[in-house]
Amino acid sequence: MSFLTKLQINSVRNINRLELNLDPCLNIIFGINGSGKTSILESIHLLATGRSFRTPKTESIIAEASAELTIYAENELQSRIGLSKGRNTKHKLKLDSKLQRNWELVARALPVQVVSAITFLLLEGGPKSRRMFLDWGVFHVKQSFVQDWRATKKCIANRNLLLKERRIDASQLEVWNEELCLYADRVDEARREYFKEFGPVFRKIYDSLVPDASAESISLEYWRGWPEDGSLKEILLAEKERDHRYGSTQNGPHRADLRVKAGKRMASDVLSRGQQKILICALKIAQGVHHASCSGDKCIYLIDDLPAELDEENRASILKYLVGLGNQLIITGVDLPSIVNCLSDGAEKRTFHVERGTIGNSLL
Ligand SMILES: Nc1ncnc2c1ncn2[C@@H]1O[C@H](COP(=O)(O)OP(=O)(O)OP(=O)(O)O)[C@@H](O)[C@H]1O
Ligand SMILES: [Mg+2]
Repeated sequence: MSFLTKLQINSVRNINRLELNLDPCLNIIFGINGSGKTSILESIHLLATGRSFRTPKTESIIAEASAELTIYAENELQSRIGLSKGRNTKHKLKLDSKLQRNWELVARALPVQVVSAITFLLLEGGPKSRRMFLDWGVFHVKQSFVQDWRATKKCIANRNLLLKERRIDASQLEVWNEELCLYADRVDEARREYFKEFGPVFRKIYDSLVPDASAESISLEYWRGWPEDGSLKEILLAEKERDHRYGSTQNGPHRADLRVKAGKRMASDVLSRGQQKILICALKIAQGVHHASCSGDKCIYLIDDLPAELDEENRASILKYLVGLGNQLIITGVDLPSIVNCLSDGAEKRTFHVERGTIGNSLL
């Protein structure tokens, strides 16, 4: 099981200095608009993955009056993870005092799943966010995936450089094609395998969160990034002219998608906002459940503004499901009753009241 015991945040957005001792299970962070709730979840996500879930520009997260942010956390195994990032300097990431070259070990030590307003992109946005969702799962269950995916991206980048030239060096292109096909097949196989296992887990969870007939019409489809009726090698050959015209590779695993459909249409075209949020929660919960069944390790759920978009019944059923899993939950909301009233009587929890970037009265 993964959970955070301690969190320290310095100079993140409106947070000057904040320290939390977290409950292994349920943590509720509440406060008025602009108090700093999302910034706390954003800090955990940044520490665990190297990315904010709100912005691609880490610099904008650093508090205006400061030159550098720092985030520090300890988990249940007493592992210490620390991150510092200056405005114009490269980040420094440490795991148990050892400097890390990338986030691979930290991401494995701190698997996090986030549900926030931005997560609606999973349904409404382009394939990139769905590909990232799929790859989170593959990364956490298949060790070799990260190397194969890195190698694929390198091949595509080099191939694209060649495609941008007026006269393409055919023999060099052939070298990158060969290499790309090799890694692309591995990436596709790992994603396909994951998708096959993930689908039924999702189905079961979605059906229990939405126990009416409409649940049947939701389906997931995996698209590998090039047509199923040919090999990538054949497609690259057939689409050579088009690739040259665009100056980039039009087919390959960098174009993969996880399509979420309601009947024959895309789920985002059919479902209401609340229904979309339940579907997103089901996808995220399913990913955590599948991850736990493969690794024995439970991920940490960061749920920003849980009550938003959901009626009381749906809030209660999602909370009940999440609490029942026993993962660490860090949930935010504008007011405490809209979350607490959906919990069963006597449910253990730790609550934190955020006011202007600091913790006010914490209640147990
Ligand atoms: N780089 C920054 N430096 C200082 N303050 C910032 C910076 N970026 C954002 N802020 C401020 O930080 C505050 C906290 O924002 P945050 O999104 O965490 O609030 P919140 O509690 O989640 O609010 P809401 O309930 O509206 O979602 C906001 O008032 C915002 O204006
Ligand atoms: Mg917020």
